[in-house]
Amino acid sequence: MEKIKISICTGTACFVMGASEIMLIEDNLPEDLRGKVEVEGITCLEKCKDSSCGKAPFVLVDGQLVQQATVNSVIEKIRTILNA
Ligand code: FES
Repeated sequence: MEKIKISICTGTACFVMGASEIMLIEDNLPEDLRGKVEVEGITCLEKCKDSSCGKAPFVLVDGQLVQQATVNSVIEKIRTILNA
């Protein structure tokens, strides 16, 4: 099975708003999701400059934008995608 790609913005705005904590998501994954995701850091998505996109931190889960992301909301998104 293909892994779900979690791309975490590590630009300044996102980083200070909590992206650094989300980078550790692999350590916090529920057992059933371990090994199913691939985590990468990416440079500023430019979403922080567009208030219509929501608020930092921004994370892409399989290309789908999560704004004001937290470890929990990213896990929820992973589940939504896996169950789709
Ligand atoms: S710093 Fe994350 S979108 Fe710009």
